[in-house]
Amino acid sequence: MTTDNHSESHTFDAWATYFEANLERHERLDAGIPWASTPVLSGADTVALVHSLQKFELGESGEGKGLLAKARGRNDASYDAALVLFIAEEQKHSALFAGALTRFGAERLTSDWTDGVFVVLRRLMGLRTEVTLFLIAETVAMEYFEALGRSSDPVLRGVARRVLTDEVEHIRFQIDQLRAGFERSSMVTRWVAAAAAWVVALGAATVVAIDHGPALHALGLRRLTFWRRTLRHAARALPQAFRLSGTSAPFGPSAPPSVFFTAAQRANATAD
Ligand SMILES: [Fe+2]
Ligand SMILES: [Fe+2]
Repeated sequence: MTTDNHSESHTFDAWATYFEANLERHERLDAGIPWASTPVLSGADTVALVHSLQKFELGESGEGKGLLAKARGRNDASYDAALVLFIAEEQKHSALFAGALTRFGAERLTSDWTDGVFVVLRRLMGLRTEVTLFLIAETVAMEYFEALGRSSDPVLRGVARRVLTDEVEHIRFQIDQLRAGFERSSMVTRWVAAAAAWVVALGAATVVAIDHGPALHALGLRRLTFWRRTLRHAARALPQAFRLSGTSAPFGPSAPPSVFFTAAQRANATAD
């Protein structure tokens, strides 16, 4: 990597190592999802959740070619390696959601207007904006996956908890990318970028709260509660990403994958 652009030694080696080590953890968690169990949702809840999961599955399925092409401009091999592994994790999420759709006899979507808007915006913008959009999407998804992790259906519950253990670290990964990307930017630039991100976060939270309202209701979550909690995730993440918070966490993943595996096992053991 080019150290002159990353004076705080923002190497992404730790992230690449983390994502690589995740492969074994994923296999063990995926093996615990009871795919052969009988679906337990009511008819109305199934319709609402299928409609919603189809959109999340589509959102997770991107190949990330544009993101990788932009990232190569940073001439940082460790960053490229981490990004490739990150995109592979997202595609695995898509496969898990596709499996859940199959369980309920539903097809995958090939297009959706909300995903289309997101993809067009990302293609039009530079690397930092694209990463910002990923960060916002993941702060919105966090609250949804948490609610899905309390679903009465064991497969939806297992998939959501499995995906959630990744997303916690993905948010940190996006924050680290932005911290590195805005390292040399002025305070004014960072405030303007943060303000723009807040506008997008407000819009994204509102659209998802409205569009996925029936699914949120099926998961026992009111639209307004979801909206408020989602923006709380954004309020934690955005000041760190744009270097506006007084305290900053150490660069890199928050814990080795084994810690998350243990936490996920414990959650499954207590709830099932
Ligand atoms: Fe994901
Ligand atoms: Fe993610």
